[in-house]
Amino acid sequence: MEIVVSGIRPTGNLHLGNYFGALKNFISMQNEHDCYFFIADYHSLTTHPTPQDLHGNVKQVLVEYLAAGLDPEKATLYIQSDVPETAELYLFLNMNAYIGELERCTSFKDKIRQQPQNVNAGLLTYPTLMAADIIIHKATKVPVGKDQEQHLEMTRQFANRFNRLYNVDYFPEPQAYNFGKSLVRIPGLLGSGKMGKSEGEGNAIFLADEPAAIRKKVMRAVTDSGPTTPNQEKPEPIQNLFQLMSVVSSKDTVDHFNDLYNNCQIRYGDMKKQLAEDMIHFTTPFRERIKELLNDEAYISKVARMGKEKARASAAKTIKEVREIIGFKSF
Ligand code: TYM
Repeated sequence: MEIVVSGIRPTGNLHLGNYFGALKNFISMQNEHDCYFFIADYHSLTTHPTPQDLHGNVKQVLVEYLAAGLDPEKATLYIQSDVPETAELYLFLNMNAYIGELERCTSFKDKIRQQPQNVNAGLLTYPTLMAADIIIHKATKVPVGKDQEQHLEMTRQFANRFNRLYNVDYFPEPQAYNFGKSLVRIPGLLGSGKMGKSEGEGNAIFLADEPAAIRKKVMRAVTDSGPTTPNQEKPEPIQNLFQLMSVVSSKDTVDHFNDLYNNCQIRYGDMKKQLAEDMIHFTTPFRERIKELLNDEAYISKVARMGKEKARASAAKTIKEVREIIGFKSF
């Protein structure tokens, strides 16, 4: 049995990128493995949310985890800030993380470009906090999307470095995971880039989106003037539409539009209508469960309490052992 750990930042509603990159794997893994899935609210402080937004977004992600099918009886579902042992391990790991390697991290360079007015130390040390999240439970598998690959590589570095420094074989090497297949990157609707919240309005389809919103966003997706020679290569925005279709539509539907493309007969308007309907079909059960669960305060707080207890038991054991390894011993 593997120990599985993963998390999602509470920055608003979950989108199809989160679902196909991560959450879908969480749901299948909970049946076979010892799983810890959390809401990365410490991480979201790097963008300075207001207290109301922070609290509301944590609740939203917890509800969406449950609506998507995570079972708190099978997996440990918890809120990162409920486990302060994570922050202590983050402190220890920071002592052995070097400025140069943190500055070279691609996500840090992206953030400098996205928020030049707020390049804080939390952004720089984002990978050590993420490593703490993972190794606090001694995880072996981490279901994530392609954009997290480098963070996982850094996590292995930090874990191995700890083992070497203290001459122990304590932390295992966690691997990014997607059911034996390569990690996924779900594209956005605006032509280039991944689906994500910070990639522009209209770029992401959320699990909680109403049908009208989905139709509007899909119909506005970037396309081109269409193919002019048979079997020609698809430019990026068109490839993206096909990739999105391949995750929500049937194989027959994808093949149908692929044939039309290859014969230069495709009408993107028709393809988008079909894609929007298939996305609506896919998201509707989520949306309905999200609405029901949002009102069930008692259940939400029960789930959060249960998760906190289980996650802390595991984290406290690791921190106790780590303290001893480092040399913090009581007199
Ligand atoms: P976050 O919150 O940006 O995204 C959560 C998960 O969704 C995946 N994802 C995608 N996958 C494919 N295509 C996309 N367009 C797409 N957009 C998002 C991400 O890869 C991720 O798996 N640093 C993490 C959160 C985190 C974490 C951790 C994850 C904190 N600590 C420990 C795993 C283990 C993040 O910001 O993901």
